[in-house]
Formats: sequence, C-alpha cells, structure tokens
Amino acid sequence: MPELRQSIAQHYHERTKYDPETISAKSKGLDWAKQPVPFKEYKIGSNFDLQAYIKEKPVSFANNSDALWWQRLSRLLFCSYGLTARMPSMGNTVYLRAAPSAGGLYPAEMYLISKGTPLLPPGLYNYQFRTHSLMHYWESDVWQKLQSACLGNPSLEGATLAIVITSVFFRSAWRYEDRAYRRIFLDTGHLIGNIELAAAFTGYRPHLIGGFIDEDVNELLYINSKQEGAIAVLSLADLQDIEQNTPVAPTALPSTTETDYPRIPDGELLNYFHLATQIQPDTTGKLNLPEVNVDKSIEDKYNFSFCDKISTVTKPVYWGKKLENLEQTILKRRSTRAFSGESLQFHELKAILNFTYQPQNYINQNLDKSPDYFDLNLIETFIAVSGVEGLERGCYYYAPKAQELRQIRFKNFRRELHFLCLGQDLGRDAAAVIFHTADLKTAVAKYGDRVYRYLHMDAGHLGQRLNLGAIHLGLGVSGIGGFFDDKVNEVLGIPNDEAVLYITTLGRPR
Ligand SMILES: Cc1cc2nc3c(=O)[nH]c(=O)nc-3n(C[C@H](O)[C@H](O)[C@H](O)COP(=O)(O)O)c2cc1C
Repeated sequence: MPELRQSIAQHYHERTKYDPETISAKSKGLDWAKQPVPFKEYKIGSNFDLQAYIKEKPVSFANNSDALWWQRLSRLLFCSYGLTARMPSMGNTVYLRAAPSAGGLYPAEMYLISKGTPLLPPGLYNYQFRTHSLMHYWESDVWQKLQSACLGNPSLEGATLAIVITSVFFRSAWRYEDRAYRRIFLDTGHLIGNIELAAAFTGYRPHLIGGFIDEDVNELLYINSKQEGAIAVLSLADLQDIEQNTPVAPTALPSTTETDYPRIPDGELLNYFHLATQIQPDTTGKLNLPEVNVDKSIEDKYNFSFCDKISTVTKPVYWGKKLENLEQTILKRRSTRAFSGESLQFHELKAILNFTYQPQNYINQNLDKSPDYFDLNLIETFIAVSGVEGLERGCYYYAPKAQELRQIRFKNFRRELHFLCLGQDLGRDAAAVIFHTADLKTAVAKYGDRVYRYLHMDAGHLGQRLNLGAIHLGLGVSGIGGFFDDKVNEVLGIPNDEAVLYITTLGRPR
C-alpha cells in the first residue's frame, strides 16, 4: 500500500527542521530596519492604572476589598507578562518580561476580556506592560460572543474575566522565518505557565481553552487576522466567588487533518499552516469536529529492558509562606547567558523534576494539583546528563509516572550537545539538557493538525516550570529553540518517532 501523504503539521515540521547541511544556505541576514516593535499602542481608549497595587504589600489593603480585588488582578498580570527589566541594546531599550521569549521578540500580546464586574466595566482590554496598565479599547460587552466562539466551553459560564493570548506573527517571523511558528507557541506556553502559577497566589483558577473558532475570536478582539491571531484563551475563575467554582472542561479540541495541500513557497509556510490549523465551520455553518480517542494510559511510554532505573522521588520544593518565594522567583527570573561548566547535585535536578512534573505534591502549598495542559500524555522527556554529581553521564528517559530516570545511552555528550544546539555554548556547558519530544503522527491522529499548537504550548509550559524551579534553587537555566532536529535523535538515542519540540539547558551560572 502506498504511504499516506504526511499531514500539513508533519510537513511543516519536516520543512522547518534545522540541518547542518542546509542551515547556512537558508539563513538570510537580518534587516534591522524592519524589526517590528514588540508592543501595541492605542490612539483611543481609557487607561486603568495597575502600578499602585504592585508597589504595596497585600496587608496595606487589608480592609479595602476593592483595592484588594485590583491588587490580585494587578499581581496576576504583572507576574504573567509584566516588565521586569530594561536592557540597553544598540541605542535602544529591550524590555524584558516575566515570561521569556525566543530572541527577546515577544510576539505574544495579552488581552483581558471583562463580562462586566463592579470594578472593571465590560469590554476589551489590552495589557500594556510598559506602564503596567489595562487599555480599555472597546467598551461593549463581548462575553456572549466569546462563549460562542469558544463553543460554549463551560468554564466561561460562571467566570467574569478571561485572558486571550494572541500572536503578532511577524515579530518573530522577521527573524526566524517559517520556523517562528514553533517558537511563538513555545513562548505562549511559558506565559501560560506563569499565569497558571501566579493564579495560585492571587486567588484565580485559570481554565485553558485551546478549542475555539479562530476567526470569531480574532473578530471579537478587532485584530487584523492577517497579522495577528488568537492562540489561547484562559477563563479566570475567581476563587473568592463560590459561583465561579466551575468543573474542569476539555482544554484541547481537534481540527481537521490536511493532507491535500499545494506546494507552499518558503516564507509563506507559517501563514498557510496557521490557517490550516484553525477550527472553522464548513460552508453550511456546521463544525464537524473529528472524534478524539481518549487514551487512559497509566504507564510511562518507554520502559526499555535492561536499562538502569534511578528513582527521582524527593521532597517537594518549598515556596514559602503564601507562595512568596514563587512570586519573587517569577519576578527575578532571567535566562542564563553562560554556564560555568560546573556540576549540579542530583538532589537539585530531582527537585526541579519534582516541581515540574509532579504538581500533585504541591497541594499543601496551595498550588493546583492538576494544572491545565492540552494533553501531557503526548509529550515525553529525555535528559542528557553531562555533569550531575551522583548520576552517571549519558542520556536518560524521564518516566514521570514511575518518577524515575531510565538510562538509554552512556557517554559524555558535551561536544555533541554543543553541536546539536547550533554551536551555542549553553549546550556544551550545561550540566543537564532536557528535551521535550512528541510522536507527531500519533498526536495528529488524535487531534488533527491543530495539535502542533498544543504540543508546543505544553512544552513551553513545562519549560517555564523548569525555569522557575532552577532559578529558585539559585541555578542557571535557558530555553533553546534552535537545534539540529534529526541529529538530536541520532546522537542521543532518542527514538526516531519522537520529534524534538524544545530544549531546556540547566547548569551553574557563570
Ligand atoms: C522558546 C524559547 C527559545 C529560546 N531559545 C534560545 C536560544 O536558542 N538561545 C539562547 O541563548 N536563548 C534562548 N532563549 C532565551 C531568550 O533569549 C530569552 O528568553 C530572552 O532574551 C528574554 O530574556 P529573559 O528570558 O532573561 O527574560 C529562548 C527562550 C524561549 C522562550
């Protein structure tokens, strides 16, 4: 039987792989004059200032319920995507944010939609990070439109606030061209990770919504969908209002799977692929979403026989009274620019893994025992260990359910990791390099081509937990979005069906 044609998601992934043979021919120089600005400005609208509330400690507002309400929202937005540092660069200022972004390009925009609360009138707000304020640019109620665009997702029923994350594609495509799509969703995953964690100390329960009619969400936000598109919606249940205690709803809905696509020229692939992964009604107005087979697997995916298994069970990371240290960690987080090459202790790696993959251990600290992801069953984790005291060098599969490392290769990979990370020293000098992967064929079979978005957002979300775990322990950490895709599998012994989504490097900062 002839092999079925790859779906557009698999085709996109294949086409945007970095390969040592072709990378230099493909990479064009950057046109700095064309670099887009990483923020939006509004000519009309009214501004709601949130600055005052982050300067004060919550106790200062103890008897003022209005001020406390504002403070919770202010801290949530600040810890998600607020301006946490300014860096001079070539005569300009680079604004660094609470969430990291590939190349510091910040394609994501964050909007708040209010159904109308006593303090926040209904309508649309854009989060203006430079002034830490909300720009109310549309004053009519759009809540019903949001509910119908999100196909009646039950988490919106009781809620009165929702966050929508969009992407202004060219901000990232300007530099990374078609491959930018991967980084855009990884960035958003980091932002979702911050929202998820910051919600725990500000009294919200975010419900992640990945299934929505794209064009309807874009329309209700009044954005130009040729340049900017909605990529994630989060309904914010206020935990101080019992009415908003909604049950968990499905986070991921499937799209169609496209195998009948034309030849798409370089430079047009990102836009084509984005349109192909949208959820949209057919010409008769029907949605016709494919069925999703729920997989109830309770086993870790890989259990290689004859491999060494090392338990990673440890006690949870302590985030302080009322999660104070988590808030401080989010605000001081930076991507490490160079590692010293020194080793980590195994207990440090175990603590980071525990925080990232074992959320059920954090209920006592008031963190969600099962934060929303799109579908973590589709994502696997491999770790190349170059310098962890108490752990042999080599490549391991991390089995999150069994909480153990299963060794698949014995070797010091430093030289190879340098090469795999496109010659970036971070790869060589890291003590451990974490790879998130997914079997794209299986993932597409489950959710259609839209899964490509879900996978990258989930990998970014895990990446943000790794970041925060490492920073809290005083270690260094950085995401890496550029790597020689196929060589990673070849060199480290990761099964070939596993497409590499994202890399996180861990080590001691120089
Ligand atoms: C998806 C993603 C990919 C990244 N890839 C790289 C990379 O390949 N090399 C690197 O040095 N930093 C990388 N970074 C780190 C960014 O450069 C960094 O987040 C950005 O400069 C902002 O700085 P901050 O993280 O300190 O706030 C990446 C970050 C993200 C979120």
